[in-house]
Amino acid sequence: MEKPVKIRVNNLTKKFGDLLVLDDISFEVAQGEFLCIVGPTGCGKTTFLNSLTKLYDITAGEILVNDEPVDLKKHNIAYIFQENSTMPWLTVEQNVGFGLDLRGVSPKEKKESVDEFLELVGLSDSRNYYPAQLSVSMLQRVSIARAFAVKPELLLMDEPYGQLDISLRFKLEDELVKLWKRTGTTVLFITHNIEESVYLGEKILVLTNKPTKVKKFIKNDLPRPRDIASPEFVRIRDEVTQLIKWW
Ligand SMILES: Nc1ncnc2c1ncn2[C@@H]1O[C@H](COP(=O)(O)OP(=O)(O)OP(=O)(O)O)[C@@H](O)[C@H]1O
Ligand SMILES: [Mg+2]
Repeated sequence: MEKPVKIRVNNLTKKFGDLLVLDDISFEVAQGEFLCIVGPTGCGKTTFLNSLTKLYDITAGEILVNDEPVDLKKHNIAYIFQENSTMPWLTVEQNVGFGLDLRGVSPKEKKESVDEFLELVGLSDSRNYYPAQLSVSMLQRVSIARAFAVKPELLLMDEPYGQLDISLRFKLEDELVKLWKRTGTTVLFITHNIEESVYLGEKILVLTNKPTKVKKFIKNDLPRPRDIASPEFVRIRDEVTQLIKWW
């Protein structure tokens, strides 16, 4: 059976004054799908996420979640930013539980959820540390645990691993896939990194330069864990590279 549509983007246009950024963009994301969005710098990837979460007003068109206009009180959406967004005055454990406090979860449920996700991202032993005591990759793990702890129906990630060295990036990518499989959440993952998009995405949305249109939607059903050296992987990576060629 076809999976239900989680996100519908219909003729989305976003301008800043005279600057046309997103130009009449339409696409759909199925429930539980892992979509990677790649596109040149400044093409409007962050603008798209900010439009989805209503930080920005849309110029024309619409974005629907579960076939309804986005309502942040109703739709459970988590957003992980490129920069560290932990709260320095809270411990690791308190950071991970933060979204649960906001959502009025009982203390018992909160503890179970925090413990579960601290364990999954390998931070159980660092639960009483403060962000200033952590490395960059540990900080990103805190953000990931915090996002998953609220059991989001939709997880938005904006270049979350851009700052990491390659081995940490691979580690956190594998962790993310594990969490995604376990929770079945729908993930939108933005990246500049073509290899990362092919490693993670079940679909890859390639965007053009501004004014930005959808260049291509590529299906990627390679088995996991993916082998970045396999001929099939290299073929899809080359296809995305040819489509982008932003150098
Ligand atoms: N609040 C704003 N006011 C005016 N212009 C903006 C605003 N936010 C973004 N822009 C412009 O919109 C365009 C898209 O920006 P955006 O940050 O969405 O790009 P991006 O695809 O996320 O780029 P990067 O890959 O570098 O993160 C840029 O030209 C940017 O200058
Ligand atoms: Mg951006």
